[in-house]
Amino acid sequence: MPKFVAVAKTSEIDENQAKVVEVEGKPVALFRVQGKFYAVSHTCAHAGGPIGEGYLSEHIVTCPWHSWQYDIRTGKSISVEGAKIPLYKVKVEKDMVFVAVP
Ligand code: FES
Repeated sequence: MPKFVAVAKTSEIDENQAKVVEVEGKPVALFRVQGKFYAVSHTCAHAGGPIGEGYLSEHIVTCPWHSWQYDIRTGKSISVEGAKIPLYKVKVEKDMVFVAVP
C-alpha cells in the first residue's frame, strides 16, 4: 500500500480548477474535473513549465509556456509522442484529498 499524504480540502478546488500542492517536497498539480481529483507533476517534461497554471479543458491540460498537452488521467502527452509527466494516485476521504507518495 502506498503512503498517502493529505494535501487539500475538497472545497479548496473548484470544478475545472487546479491547486499546486507539495508532496514530499515536490510540486504536484491537483485538478478537479467532473467531481473527481487527479494529480500530476506540476513540472512540464519539456522545459519545466508550471502545469498547474495551464489551461484545462476536460481532462487535457495545456502547459502555459509552449503548449504541450497532457491527459491528467495518465500523465501522457497527447501532443508530443512519448512525452510524459509523473502521475500520482489520489484518494478522497470525507472532505480531504490525499496524494500517494511515489
Ligand atoms: S515548458 Fe511546457 S511546453 Fe515548454
